[in-house]
Amino acid sequence: MKVYRFFSYNFKIFKKGEKLFSIEHRGLNYGDGVYETLRVYDGRIFAFKEHMERLKKSLDVVKINFSVNERKIENEIANLLKLNRVKNCAVRIVITRGNGLGLPPPKGKPDISIMLVDIDKKIEEYQKRGIKAILIENPRLYDFSTRGAKTINFLPNVLGSIEFEKNGAQEGIFVTKEGFIAEGTTSNVFFVKDGILKTPSLEIGILAGITRKFILDIAREQKIPFEEGFYKKEELLSADEVFISSTTREIVPVIQIDDKKIGDRRAGSLTLSLLSAFKKKVLS
Ligand code: PDD
Repeated sequence: MKVYRFFSYNFKIFKKGEKLFSIEHRGLNYGDGVYETLRVYDGRIFAFKEHMERLKKSLDVVKINFSVNERKIENEIANLLKLNRVKNCAVRIVITRGNGLGLPPPKGKPDISIMLVDIDKKIEEYQKRGIKAILIENPRLYDFSTRGAKTINFLPNVLGSIEFEKNGAQEGIFVTKEGFIAEGTTSNVFFVKDGILKTPSLEIGILAGITRKFILDIAREQKIPFEEGFYKKEELLSADEVFISSTTREIVPVIQIDDKKIGDRRAGSLTLSLLSAFKKKVLS
């Protein structure tokens, strides 16, 4: 993943490589912050309002007192798109509690970083051909009570990514210690069985993915039967189709989980039709 040259720190523009953070930064020392990843299509930010709502919710959950000025953030993203001369990319916004060692939060000010990140060229191929995923059962450090907030405490997800890479896969799917399918390391999970679209309930303690919400909206619009629930791994493994969803990967078919082939090891027809409806939505 490449971060584009010009980025913003506290609404001032910097160039990659310039020294920014104090050694006392709480992001570095405690992972004390939250983030959002947005997507820009042809110069336009997709689902900006939804991402700002979730950002505010995350700040609230971790009690960081930062007032989100949506107009200022939107303008800064536009500014960065111009400076970096880019029209299609992801945007990463990170807000931390700023500087200060010692666990009780200091009086210091939170800070905000905004950067543009390129989109992995392999995604298009993954969308056509599908990917392999592995199950990560009872994951280490994964706390299902806080996953609704998008915090920068990403160690369980990083450990998950080490695991899936080791297995020649492109995603890891977390399973709770009670045996329920939860979410991917950076995605939500869907599957199709006998024409019904199914996805784990938010009550499991997963991120309320914005792509997930748009997919359920499409299902509603197109009268595709769907349900949110608590599903065991056997149900996922015997599904007709499986896919993951996220801002950066949109919808990507999963054609193998561990050693189990899904469907006929090709992207499923409902998956591809949802992907095409989603692509229409982002450009509309
Ligand atoms: N990640 N679950 C987790 C743990 C995630 O990290 C993500 C997204 C999602 C999907 O959410 P959304 O559809 O709103 O992107 C679910 C982003 C892309 C990231 O980590 O950069």
